[in-house]
Amino acid sequence: MNKFYITTPLYYVNAEPHIGHAYTNIVADAFARYMRKIIGDENVWFLTGTDEHGQKIEQVARQMSLEPNDFTDRMVLKFKELWEKLDISYNDFIRTSEIRHIQIVEKVLDILYRQHDIYLSEYQGWYCIPCETFWTEPQEGLVCPDCKRPLEKISEKNYFFKLSKYQDWLLGYLEKNHTFIKPEYRYEEVRSFLKLNKLNDLCISRPKERLRWGITLPFSKEHVTYVWFDALLNYISAVGDFDSQGKYHSRWWPADIQLIGKDILRQHAIYWPIILHALGIEPPHCIFAHGWWMIGGGKMSKSKGNIVSPLDIGQRYGVDALRYFLLREVSLGMDGNFSEEAIVRRYNFDLANDLGNLVYRTINIIERYFLGKIPQLEIKEEGVDEQSRQIIIKIESLRKTDIMSIADFNFSYILERVWELINMTNKYIEDKKPWSMFKENKIEDLKVFINVLIRAIREVAYNLSPFMPATSNSILEQLGDREIKKGKLLFPRIDV
Ligand code: MSP
Repeated sequence: MNKFYITTPLYYVNAEPHIGHAYTNIVADAFARYMRKIIGDENVWFLTGTDEHGQKIEQVARQMSLEPNDFTDRMVLKFKELWEKLDISYNDFIRTSEIRHIQIVEKVLDILYRQHDIYLSEYQGWYCIPCETFWTEPQEGLVCPDCKRPLEKISEKNYFFKLSKYQDWLLGYLEKNHTFIKPEYRYEEVRSFLKLNKLNDLCISRPKERLRWGITLPFSKEHVTYVWFDALLNYISAVGDFDSQGKYHSRWWPADIQLIGKDILRQHAIYWPIILHALGIEPPHCIFAHGWWMIGGGKMSKSKGNIVSPLDIGQRYGVDALRYFLLREVSLGMDGNFSEEAIVRRYNFDLANDLGNLVYRTINIIERYFLGKIPQLEIKEEGVDEQSRQIIIKIESLRKTDIMSIADFNFSYILERVWELINMTNKYIEDKKPWSMFKENKIEDLKVFINVLIRAIREVAYNLSPFMPATSNSILEQLGDREIKKGKLLFPRIDV
């Protein structure tokens, strides 16, 4: 692999970012950092950003008596601030209100319109006047799902993209590309949906009488582009351009992984590859849909007042503890239950007792018996006792297996393996009893022991760097090359 391009969804800026948004970006960040270690910084591109057009955002802005673009300018800062706090190492942040994006959307619309993949037709739906929301699927009892007031049936002229024309192509594509959608059960879900249903064409415009905040269609000044059609194109608008023949060029496309939540699978696994195919552009290599973080078994929502702020959690337990919890607690794809008790449990057991303790004890041993200087020694697997040899073997095995698990996003598994080494090493200290070695004046043995110990901890730090970058750095700094530099306690225990 000579380049790696990973994307996250573009977040709606109508509300502040919560733990669910943070999750997607932390997963993508861990992946990007991981790949940078393998193929080099310059070959990895990590894109995130904000989805800024559409009715919801226009409404919230108006409620605050702001112009939509002033409102989104403010909200974007909150997202950027959060990503900085959470150590999200994105390479580019795209906003759908940027010129570079708008120009590509216009080019795409123009190409598709000229090749007759876009046509004008009548659009019918149910409209909630108080909410100013349009519902295309017939709603139960014809009341608005949001406010429960009666809906009015309306019809209007709109532009449609010919999704249906490409249904067979997509099904064929899926048959040939089993890893296009992951996890596998999501792949099956999309495939059977396509087999059992006939796709409708996608309405890609909104009349300006109803919505002004959007990208004007190049072929109709009366319409703006539907927000989903506009937003999906960010993945190509951020990293390339069309030439005068309408051919797309990019150093990064096709994306290697497009990370999304399971809630937006249909748009990414059906609309998106079809739009790309119609443009003569290759689909991404893989769409990965992760699960949801729930609270007490239910959805987080504003009305329930149970939205979890990642900033608060990060402040209370530390950013790396939050990152660790989210990545370790559930395997990617599954839903997880978010609770502070669960974080505290992981924190006290895995971070304070296991990892923090290991680093703390090691530093103390070197301080006490070698006055803080790390004894320099070349150790070989053959020349050491059995327990030391087992640790060396474990260190080496960690290097080999990761790459497979990362391909399946099995972060939880990778972390478990790192913890096996941590636990083995903690036991190593207990069994070897460095304090008795010192008393018995077995200085050479003590040197070997410390070297194995340091090697193990460096390996742990190396392996943790994509997941807990600040902790990894802090461990390496405290250990130093030749001399330890005792820093602050990594994870002081939390009393419950
Ligand atoms: N703007 C669209 C995406 C356009 S992509 C071209 C959108 N935005 S969103 O802000 O509503 O949220 C998008 C993503 O946030 C979800 O797909 C998911 O990745 C993440 N999450 C939002 N809530 C979540 C949870 N409760 N749990 C985990 N992630 C969830 O949809």
